[in-house]
Amino acid sequence: MKHIPVLLDEVVVECPSDTKGWLIDCTLGSGGHFLALLNLNDNLVGFDADFAPIENLSKILISKGFTEVESPLEDISIFTDSKSEKKVILCNVNFSKAKKTLEDLNIFNFSLILADLGLSTDQLLFSTRGFSFSQPNQALDMRINIKSGGPTAADLLNFLSESELTNLFRNYGEMSSAKPLAKKILQYREKFGNIGTVGELLKASGYQNRILGKKVHPATKLFMALRIAVNSEFVNLQLLLSDFLPSIYKGTKILIISFHSLEQKIIQNFVKDNDLNVKNIKPGIEEIRSNSSSRSATLNVIYE
Ligand SMILES: C[S@@+](CC[C@H](N)C(=O)[O-])C[C@H]1O[C@@H](n2cnc3c(N)ncnc32)[C@H](O)[C@@H]1O
Repeated sequence: MKHIPVLLDEVVVECPSDTKGWLIDCTLGSGGHFLALLNLNDNLVGFDADFAPIENLSKILISKGFTEVESPLEDISIFTDSKSEKKVILCNVNFSKAKKTLEDLNIFNFSLILADLGLSTDQLLFSTRGFSFSQPNQALDMRINIKSGGPTAADLLNFLSESELTNLFRNYGEMSSAKPLAKKILQYREKFGNIGTVGELLKASGYQNRILGKKVHPATKLFMALRIAVNSEFVNLQLLLSDFLPSIYKGTKILIISFHSLEQKIIQNFVKDNDLNVKNIKPGIEEIRSNSSSRSATLNVIYE
């Protein structure tokens, strides 16, 4: 199954027709949004904390006739197309450092910042980092950038206290069962030692099987909560928004596709606190029918 970009037409419609400023895609993933933006603008920068999307999109750019030129900066690849005069820069950098990276690249004029939060279908299906509850043998790593050196999901499960785990499940997964779940994890640790794999976590939590008649797997929120904690996803979103606040006041539009009510809360507070405007766009019934992963998506268009 291939990743299907969410709310693609709606993102394209929001893309400014003035094509002088750079377009910035903070979450390249499989490149669905990025490649659509490439048709609209000559100058694009893409970010992803995971190296796989950078490698994949580099190959796609070369196949489209782009040439890679020497880059002065580490983790940054620069491509040009002599025929169309397009310039594309791919950065294997966390978007919480996007503003600083753009400054290092001498890019100050950008008209659109896009972030499509979370993981791509490719990461869920093909990565071996324990993102998915359907891969019981994988180790529970869950770091989007394995070079980051931060704690893995297994580290959190094995070293946090019962109350810290309760807070993690409650704050990032909005789980009503946060407290009994944390207790179960502690009991498993006492009985069997560490939790190292997806299968062991499913056993410890008791979320091994689907519940008859329920569409959503019982482990969905648990895995989401751990991924958000491991990758500091809410902090990164807050940093992205606050770093680009001066740019919004100068006319840059920020598009955030979010899948989580707490991300929505961060965005709403940011808009309110800084006297900005936001337009919320939800996928239509047709899109939800053809791509069920879009069902909880909201496109937030933030502008002054
Ligand atoms: C939902 S996917 C994006 C899909 C993409 N828009 C497409 O159409 O194929 C999210 C991507 O963002 C990346 N990502 C998540 N958090 C990130 C962060 N803080 N900085 C950079 N990339 C991040 C993930 O590695 C993943 O590839």
